[in-house]
Amino acid sequence: MKPPYSNPSTTFRASPTTDSVRKTPSESDAMIKLNGVIKRFSNAAGEFTVLKGVDLKIKRGEFVSIVGKSGSGKSTLLNMITGIDHPSDGQVVVNDMDIYATFTESQRSKWRGRNLGIVFQFFQLLPMLTLLENVMLPMDYVDMYDFDLRPERAMELLKLVGLEKFADKLPVLVSTGQQQLAAIARAMACDPPLLVTDEPTGNLDTRSADTIIQLFETFVSQGKTIVLVTHDPSVTSRTHRNVIISDGELIDETIAKALPQLRHRHMLEFTKLVEERVYQPHETIIPRDQHVDYFFMIRKGEVEVVLQEKKRRPDGSSLAHRVEGKDHIVSRLSENEFFGEMELLRGGKAIANVRVGNKPVEALALPRADFIRVMNESPITAEALGKIVQKRLEAHQIADNRR
Ligand SMILES: Nc1ncnc2c1ncn2[C@@H]1O[C@H](COP(=O)(O)OP(=O)(O)OP(=O)(O)O)[C@@H](O)[C@H]1O
Ligand SMILES: [Mg+2]
Repeated sequence: MKPPYSNPSTTFRASPTTDSVRKTPSESDAMIKLNGVIKRFSNAAGEFTVLKGVDLKIKRGEFVSIVGKSGSGKSTLLNMITGIDHPSDGQVVVNDMDIYATFTESQRSKWRGRNLGIVFQFFQLLPMLTLLENVMLPMDYVDMYDFDLRPERAMELLKLVGLEKFADKLPVLVSTGQQQLAAIARAMACDPPLLVTDEPTGNLDTRSADTIIQLFETFVSQGKTIVLVTHDPSVTSRTHRNVIISDGELIDETIAKALPQLRHRHMLEFTKLVEERVYQPHETIIPRDQHVDYFFMIRKGEVEVVLQEKKRRPDGSSLAHRVEGKDHIVSRLSENEFFGEMELLRGGKAIANVRVGNKPVEALALPRADFIRVMNESPITAEALGKIVQKRLEAHQIADNRR
């Protein structure tokens, strides 16, 4: 059965609408769910594992970038999501479909045509077809929209990407940036809820790349989900979320944000070493004057760094001991910030009390020895942390002098 024809001019709107983000009751909030995905390849040297048990959830409407060194498994990961290749183990659910358990190869291919837009670095437009014909191809393949209406819809898509004047041209007669725009129009031909794209700006100049990212932002504002592999930091800074893959494993996103200077292999090491902890409102995480055994990164919630008010003598001078005094909050730290580093880097006991605010806190705790070892191996991170320690100490001193 053909789906109802949707007027192209109403499908793509410049601003979010309730229509474009509306969900049916059966839809979950996840567009993509990967559970324990493993991918092995064999070659002459034997079998090797490229994806080593990947768990990933991407919500509907999210704009997510995936980065990682060459050979880390980014394209392989995308191929698992698109159904182009199949995992050796694990589960892939896309748009509420368990795509490997549910479909045969040919069913998956049809499903892909209706549910996914795919854009690669090298456009892959058919050279003998005009841009308009290229954009109509997917509609023909999955038999979507009335035959007579396909040229009109394809033209609307070319308009959307600013190529209506070139509709009758062969790909070779337009620039590489324009070819990529045409490839995006083609990917959106069947109005898929999800666009998956592998280095779409990798072959383009800065201006064309910017046009493409703006277009993606428009799609996202209409409720589409976009997953994009890139090497370009100016692209990752514009997505909602950045997922880092290192040697076939995903890095914890809190660690990547808390310590962005770390090498990926160190981030991955931390990902495996941290303990996840939950603290209740007002609970003390680091008591003042005690040894600190962990470096903490905040996943969720807020902590307060507290000094105690010094008791003042009648002449105004302060007493050396701080017991019984009133609390003084020097700073508040929230998601993706860290604490405990001062004591670990400088040695000695905690100079302030760190406690939970009004809501529970989820934190990652890294044992002291692992933190110190990696700081010794990563001078850039150690230097960046050193600067933060300096600033925090100054803030403490100012606070101390005011008390
Ligand atoms: N079909 C295949 N057969 C055998 N090995 C493969 C196959 N596809 C990928 N690999 C290997 O898997 C590893 C990951 O490849 P992948 O293409 O996913 O990396 P990538 O992160 O996309 O790299 P790049 O940034 O260079 O595109 C590489 O070592 C690659 O050689
Ligand atoms: Mg790749």
